[in-house]
Amino acid sequence: MAGLISLVLLGLLIGYVVLRPSKYTGRSSGKGVPVHVLVLGDVGRSPRMTYHALSIAKHGGKVRLIGYLETSPHPDILTNPNITLIPLPTPPARPASVPFLLFAPIKVVYQTLHLTYLLLYVLPPSAWLLVQNPPSIPTLAVASFSCSLRNSSLVIDWHNYGWTILSSTKGPSHPFVKLSKIYETYFGRLGSHHLTVTHAMARQLRSPPYSIPPQKPMIPVHDRPAAIFQPILLPESRAAALSNVLPESERPYLPSVLDGSTKLLVSSTSWTPDEDFSLLLSALTLYAAQPNPVPILAIITGKGPQKEYYLGQIDVLTRQGKLPNVKIATAFLPFEHYAKLLACADLGICLHKSSSGVDLPMKVVDMFGAGLPVVAYSGYESFGELVKEGANGRGFETEGELAGILGGLLSPEGEAELGMLKRGAVEEGRRRWDEEWEGTVGGLMGLVSC
Ligand SMILES: *[C@@H]1O[C@H](CO)[C@@H](O)[C@H](O)[C@H]1NC(C)=O
Ligand SMILES: *[C@@H]1O[C@H](CO)[C@@H](O)[C@H](O)[C@H]1NC(C)=O
Repeated sequence: MAGLISLVLLGLLIGYVVLRPSKYTGRSSGKGVPVHVLVLGDVGRSPRMTYHALSIAKHGGKVRLIGYLETSPHPDILTNPNITLIPLPTPPARPASVPFLLFAPIKVVYQTLHLTYLLLYVLPPSAWLLVQNPPSIPTLAVASFSCSLRNSSLVIDWHNYGWTILSSTKGPSHPFVKLSKIYETYFGRLGSHHLTVTHAMARQLRSPPYSIPPQKPMIPVHDRPAAIFQPILLPESRAAALSNVLPESERPYLPSVLDGSTKLLVSSTSWTPDEDFSLLLSALTLYAAQPNPVPILAIITGKGPQKEYYLGQIDVLTRQGKLPNVKIATAFLPFEHYAKLLACADLGICLHKSSSGVDLPMKVVDMFGAGLPVVAYSGYESFGELVKEGANGRGFETEGELAGILGGLLSPEGEAELGMLKRGAVEEGRRRWDEEWEGTVGGLMGLVSC
């Protein structure tokens, strides 16, 4: 046995000496500082890592953006001469006959080997490796290992925690949840620099169980709306945009939405259990039961697993006469149409419930970019970092509160308050990603002189 172990150790040693990966020496080749940006997810659906890559490239960094290519990435990624896309092979899907407990470890081993080989040998060494967390398995372990061998600095961009997301589906006492918590807190500490989506998350990462030591920089970088989200303030522009983006079946509502006698609500949802759509449905039922409610057209966008179930529920409630004056329509819109719809709406609704309590919904960021005030679920710590109660939106925790807020804001008496919230939303949306990035990550990476 001991002989076998020494043989393996000797093999590893020889392997390391022969196959030693090259190190980053600090001298860039004249083509800019090399930066690797890694997300173990679909690049097209990773807006924040896309914006990081574009900002680094814009400031002269040489970016290799590593991730899956499932949906088409942002067009600027494909045309930017300073960005090279490094596609990861999509891991094989689990055949129905193989149990999850057997398949998951095989998939992780496959991803680990592939990523390690890529980061150590295929790509040239980089000054920085910027990784998105979550997913943390196996990214954090592989990234910290390869950074230590290649003399790169590891920057972890914390969007949320993998283990709290897992916990919300598997339950807090599941062994996988406990294991992934230990893993994520241990390897999370190995990053040399940390970025977070909120101040609340930055505070939390300094304390147990994460306990990231104070000498490692921790910088909150708030998400900001993409340029495609812009307010539409002139009535004639709103009329033109709305007649273009309103789904065909809802065209009859156009005149009354434009003259304000019907209020246009927009909510986007992934139709998953962490966004309790029944809460909005009950609130609209309560709203419709109030005396003389202002008519509402609510457009719900997005795709997801529970959509069919809720469509059935909406149908039943409508047939029972419980939604008079409320029309709920669902749509899946192209991105540009979605951005215009937000800019034309009267109020945005957000049902996002945070699994960690310290992340923020990107869709509210986009709504503010389009100058749309929001009514959002508020029962988590970081809520106030984005929605300022009474200034650019309102928060609720129960369906009764949501119905009350809708009744107040949409009634003729609520017009002044809604107008004020709209101005607040336009103001909040004015600060964009470039500004936020240059003042934080740009300085950290030495790409922007402070
Ligand atoms: C590691 O990188 C730094 C710059 O980030 C450089 O100054 C240093 O010389 C490098 N170390 C080695 C061993 O190449
Ligand atoms: C690419 O980097 C150079 C500096 O190396 C910079 O001048 C240029 O604007 C960058 N291009 C883009 C499209 O970001």
